[in-house]
Amino acid sequence: MTGTQQPVPGVVAPAPAGWHNPLRDKRDKRMPRIAGPCGVVIFGVTGDLARKKLMPAIYDLANRGLLPPSFSLVGFARRDWADEDFGKIVYDAVKQHARTPFRQEVWDRLAEGIRFVCGSFDDDGAFTRLAETLEKLDVERGTGGNHAFYLSIPPKAFPQVCEQLKQSGLARPQEGRWSRVVIEKPFGHDLDSAIELNALVNSVFPEESVFRIDHYLGKETVQNILALRFANELYEPIWNSHYVDSVQITMAEDIGLGGRAGYYDGIGAARDVIQNHLLQLLALTAMEEPVSFHPREVRAEKIKVLSATSLAQPLDLTTSRGQYTTGWQGGEKVVGLLDEEGFSKDSTTETFAAITLEVDTRRWAGVPFYLRTGKRLGRRVTEIALVFKRAPHLPFDATMTEELGQNALVIRVQPDEGITLRFGSKVPGSAMEVRDVNMDFSYGSAFAEDSPEAYERLILDVLLGEPSLFPGNAEVELSWEILDPVLDYWAAHGKPDPYESGTWGPESAFEMLQRSGREWRRP
Ligand code: BG6
Repeated sequence: MTGTQQPVPGVVAPAPAGWHNPLRDKRDKRMPRIAGPCGVVIFGVTGDLARKKLMPAIYDLANRGLLPPSFSLVGFARRDWADEDFGKIVYDAVKQHARTPFRQEVWDRLAEGIRFVCGSFDDDGAFTRLAETLEKLDVERGTGGNHAFYLSIPPKAFPQVCEQLKQSGLARPQEGRWSRVVIEKPFGHDLDSAIELNALVNSVFPEESVFRIDHYLGKETVQNILALRFANELYEPIWNSHYVDSVQITMAEDIGLGGRAGYYDGIGAARDVIQNHLLQLLALTAMEEPVSFHPREVRAEKIKVLSATSLAQPLDLTTSRGQYTTGWQGGEKVVGLLDEEGFSKDSTTETFAAITLEVDTRRWAGVPFYLRTGKRLGRRVTEIALVFKRAPHLPFDATMTEELGQNALVIRVQPDEGITLRFGSKVPGSAMEVRDVNMDFSYGSAFAEDSPEAYERLILDVLLGEPSLFPGNAEVELSWEILDPVLDYWAAHGKPDPYESGTWGPESAFEMLQRSGREWRRP
């Protein structure tokens, strides 16, 4: 949108030029889409993300035949490496972390397009060399002048790298070619910094060329939320406050934060995953049906529901934060956060966060949305649970329903991907005793295909220019607007509550639900 055009409230802006429009796309959607001529430049190739996720995902895409023969991969870092040294790094990463089997011929073809540019972000000469390398690849391999710049670097370096890409002419390609930037969270640390960051990135790359990664949106189970809700007649009538008592979104991890102090200390669980992954899960669960799956329409619905979402008050009773202490996990004694390498001994960074949200719409008024996440919890599990109201009347002897809980529909995001419906069933025998049972759908047994890794899907979508699975800047800013009050409240009010590693979080998290007569599901 240009400076003179103002958005009209309620009217969705037309798709910017260059966006793929799925509505006009009449091809058979079951056919895999293959990226056209292009290359990827990764900044931050020495980091964990590049090694464990990005390089393996690129190989997996090549292995599935989804990359063009001309594809090139350029690494940019300060290391004094030749192309071959970088090639070896990619090779090791692929061998160790790729999802699909190693095939020498796929690797050989990929390796031909691997280059390395040595330089620091403040070195103008390095960006000139990068531009020359890309030009050469355009000629030698036919990458067509189409490049994605993947910023897998600390956010404080974004401004400098964006500016360098602008100065070197790489951000604004010639007519008929594309240049896209991929950024990893955190997108700012509060609303003001997110607005600043978005303005900065948009001053170099137009919004349609900006791909913000929220890797949860690349997960099959997360994409399936929309299929479950909008391809079936079964759920819609009960997907509202008449039947749903509360929604619980849990992202629990058993890992600790050893080795991640540089990123995590001072950031904490709410900024790390609630602002992005969990609020995106909430948006997909609570939004209305989009007019179509056009990215613009899906985003419009997410924006609407996030605009209606806010923290329940008062924050001292409706939120909880914690920090793990020493404890036992997987049969091993583990240290507390304050003893993890690199964390300051008086760190007040929360490793557990739980909040209560209200979604102020006709569909959801009165239904609390409880979000919780934490490190060093009982086990790794991410799930969205719709917990239903109790039946208004139970025509049974009270002793017969002691083991009957509330019905629940649980979307199991990971590990054990699938969906569970929990309901009461008669226990075999002469008495009319009713107990909770589960009905399960599991991806593993329903489908022969393995799910691709989130990063495979997302990198391919960047190369295809398909923005559906990337949050736009409005979603990012709204998420901060929702979260900022609790971040400010926590900053002004003491320390997180301690919880023992291997448990399900601090006492305050349990009390938070008990106040309204509810309890957290035990995954
Ligand atoms: C990242 C967070 O976005 O997601 C990490 O920064 C977290 O702290 C990770 O461990 C979890 O991802 P997944 O896909 O394993 O659930």
